Amino acid sequence: MEVNISDLTWDQFIYPRGGKSEKTINAYVEALAIGAQFPPIKIQRVFNYVDGNETTEATIILDGIHRWSAFKEKGIKEIAAVEWKDKPLDYEKNKVALLLESAQCNTSHGDRLSSNDKKRIARDIASTDPECKCTEDTLAEKLGVSQQTVNAWITDIRARQKTNRNSIIIKLSRLGWSQEKIAKIAGLSQNRISEIIGNTSFSNIDNLLSQGHDMEYIARHYHMDLALAWALRLEGKTDQEKFKELGWGLRTWDQWNFNECDERFGDDWPGRIPAQLIAHTLFYFTKPGDLVLDPMAGGGVVTDACLLFERKCQAFDLVSRDKRPEIEYHHWDPQKGTWPVTKKPDLIFFDPPYYTKKEKGYEKKANKSTPSISSYTKEDYERFFKDFFLLAHKNAKPTTILAFLNADWRNFKSTPASKEKPDKSITIFDYHRLLSKTGWKTTHRIECPLSSERLSGNHLPVRYTQTGVQRMQDKRILGTVGRTLLIAKRS
Ligand SMILES: C[S@@+](CC[C@H](N)C(=O)[O-])C[C@H]1O[C@@H](n2cnc3c(N)ncnc32)[C@H](O)[C@@H]1O
Repeated sequence: MEVNISDLTWDQFIYPRGGKSEKTINAYVEALAIGAQFPPIKIQRVFNYVDGNETTEATIILDGIHRWSAFKEKGIKEIAAVEWKDKPLDYEKNKVALLLESAQCNTSHGDRLSSNDKKRIARDIASTDPECKCTEDTLAEKLGVSQQTVNAWITDIRARQKTNRNSIIIKLSRLGWSQEKIAKIAGLSQNRISEIIGNTSFSNIDNLLSQGHDMEYIARHYHMDLALAWALRLEGKTDQEKFKELGWGLRTWDQWNFNECDERFGDDWPGRIPAQLIAHTLFYFTKPGDLVLDPMAGGGVVTDACLLFERKCQAFDLVSRDKRPEIEYHHWDPQKGTWPVTKKPDLIFFDPPYYTKKEKGYEKKANKSTPSISSYTKEDYERFFKDFFLLAHKNAKPTTILAFLNADWRNFKSTPASKEKPDKSITIFDYHRLLSKTGWKTTHRIECPLSSERLSGNHLPVRYTQTGVQRMQDKRILGTVGRTLLIAKRS
């Protein structure tokens, strides 16, 4: 078949060459001038291909970049091509296969791949393939080198992946995941998981500390999250000792304000809350070994705090990420009655979107068919909680505690305080009412006001700037920094 030269894409990841050879292209241009014929190039149609900011379809060159360049230079519009597979492939899913096919074509003819090119390909493939689906054997065969050579090229990557994989397994196991469930997501047998849990040792942490290394260094050394490194370091200590070692003062009264989020725990996430707030909830309302449910886990700060304080945790969110395998995908729609939790929790730590606050941030991460509750109408948002509280009540133990964090939502942005309408707001009293209606009895109301944690980051809303504050004062607009943790028990 003949294809249009300008419809083809040279993909730098797939086409395995440090740079094109001008010498080869010139030789081909001269050959074309005297009427030489070239074999067809090899191409593949793909979809799910990221080009700049958008995902699109493309036809990428697997073999023949020099012929294609020479044709372009001669101003020839079309080139003979053969397709590798006759159906378009999902680029993201087939990246490694495409790279290998391209590499194999280039080991046998044309400007043969240099040893450095082959090494780069082997390393690229190894790093994008932590499950080792592409064995050293296959790589050796496709690249036309010995297995020992491939081993030497990628041994450091494989070692790193192995410790990283082991640390993920340890983390999930500490959070209470069954070996069967871990085996499924790790793609290993249950026996292998059991061996890894039983045999992996990080006993060197104390040594590294005594040599003066910090926790960031230790986490990097073991290719694990900082939270897990801390959890291992603090293992076996009492809750109070842990507070001390983490440098967190323990609050004795029901007013918990923290200056900022502790950057060590949880990811940067819209509406991220301080790990200290969760630690206090765990301290007062659970004991080591208890199971915590986080239905809307966001940046994972609750799972991190549970790891630190040796509580089990099951976490969900409508956004799932490779980096946080402990957060399972679930889109809550309590009217459907689905409860994805596998064991009855001792504590439900529920930190939902505070109505439309951060709506844009959550919308970006959500899908249209499974929206964040921050885009609901006020009525639907309230109905959501009524149904969720009912469902939680039905699926909880008689002793389960519900910790519910939220803030007053008032339409204060451009409205003077005296003109605000009650039907436009949702306040902590509304949540309290919904809890009482659905079988929960509030035992505590803990104030956890927002402080500078909301003022960090570069995208400060205008109302927190000096001119914004001045404008609010001029118009007598009353802002809100309150945030309340309601603790409820089944009544
Ligand atoms: C306030 S954030 C949680 C922040 C988290 N505690 C932290 O500190 O990083 C609320 C989360 O609820 C999730 N969410 C909103 N609607 C949801 C739904 N219907 N089902 C599942 N998750 C939902 C959003 O994706 C968001 O991550």
